[in-house]
Amino acid sequence: MEATNQKTGLLKELEQRIRRAEHPRELVVDVMLALQEQYGYLSDDALEEAARLLGMSLLELEELASFYDFIYRRPVGRFVIRVCDSVVCWLEEGEKLGEHLEARLGIRMGETTPDGLFTLLPVCCIGYCDMAPAMLVNRRVYGNLNQEKIDKILEELRTGDERKGLPR
Ligand code: FES
Repeated sequence: MEATNQKTGLLKELEQRIRRAEHPRELVVDVMLALQEQYGYLSDDALEEAARLLGMSLLELEELASFYDFIYRRPVGRFVIRVCDSVVCWLEEGEKLGEHLEARLGIRMGETTPDGLFTLLPVCCIGYCDMAPAMLVNRRVYGNLNQEKIDKILEELRTGDERKGLPR
């Protein structure tokens, strides 16, 4: 019941924002992200909802959704860990850290842990080369990583304060 109320509230809020917008299409990413936050990923239902709200075709939205890294068309974990695999991080042993994460989580890149908590993905340079090796958890950056730091971050994400306020 609470989830239904939240969904209804969100749809009303989005409808109002779209009504007020001079160019509603400019809100397309915001709308998709808001629906993704609600559903956990941009499901087919959520995509149809976005198309209805914005008066756009499903094809248009599908193309945009596939263009943006932070929009997920498949279910992902609560925490999406994106390990930078570009050259500066690679030189700073980022590859080993990716392997360390795979070992710690018991999954390979592209997979989600059975408890639905973590998804592991490679990502191109995230612009924090001065903090290499670096990774993103959802949209929060973690840099100057080493194995110990990664273990601590995972522990915090499982049980501690790192979970709070972490955007999807
Ligand atoms: S190469 Fe990893 S953040 Fe730039």
